[in-house]
Amino acid sequence: MRIDIITVLPDLLESPFNHSILKRAKEKGLLEVNLINLRDFSTSKQKQVDDYQYGGGAGMVMMCEPISNCIEHLKKDRSYDEIIYMTPDGELMNQKMMNTLSLKGNFIILCGHYKGIDERIRQLYITKEISIGDYVLSGGELAAAIFVDAIGRLLPGVLNDETSALFDSFQDDLLSPPVYTRPETFKYLKVPEILLSGHEKKINEWRHEQALERTKTRRPDLLKD
Ligand code: ADE
Repeated sequence: MRIDIITVLPDLLESPFNHSILKRAKEKGLLEVNLINLRDFSTSKQKQVDDYQYGGGAGMVMMCEPISNCIEHLKKDRSYDEIIYMTPDGELMNQKMMNTLSLKGNFIILCGHYKGIDERIRQLYITKEISIGDYVLSGGELAAAIFVDAIGRLLPGVLNDETSALFDSFQDDLLSPPVYTRPETFKYLKVPEILLSGHEKKINEWRHEQALERTKTRRPDLLKD
C-alpha cells in the first residue's frame, strides 16, 4: 500500500510512521508513506497556500491552485483508489471503513488547515472525506496519522501474529475483553481463575461474555444491529 500525504506541516508527520508496527510495515515493504509539502506546489514567491475567504469572515481558506497542482503531479505517476480529505465534516472513521479501505492500494490524503479547503477542490478531486471524531483539530495531520496507523496494522503480514487484528475491539462490533499478565495477584486483585485453567473452549466463552458485557455497559450503540 502506498499513501501520499499532502500537508503544509510535513515535519509534524516525520515521527509517527517511524516506530513500532508502522516502522516494521515500511521495512517489510508492505507500506510506503510519502510526505508532500504543499508549499512546493505554490506558484507564488512567498509560497502562499491560503487566502481570505470570499464573503468575508475570520479564517483563511486553502487555495485551489497549489492543491490542484500537487494532485495532478502525483496522478501523473500512478492512479489512486481514493483521494481522501481529512475533515471534521467527513464520514466518521470506524473499523469497518478501515477494513474495506485496507483492501485497496494507493491513497492520497489531503490534510486541511485554517478554515478548510476551497469547496471546488472537494468537488473536483476528493473521493472520500473522513472525520476521526466529533471535535475540531487544528489541522488534518494528526487525523491522517491515525488513519495510517489504523490501516497499516490491517495489511497482511504487518502484525506478527496474523490473526491478532481479527480479535481487536470493534472487529465484530464488540469491545475487547479484559486482559491480564503476570503476576497472578497484584495488590489484592487476582487474575480470573478461568484464565489459569488451560481450558481453551471455556476461556473463549468467558472472553466472549466479557466482551458482550463490556460492550453493553460502555457502548450499547454497537449492539443495536
Ligand atoms: N481536521 C480537523 N478536525 C478533524 C477531525 N475531527 N477529523 C479529521 N480531520 C480533521
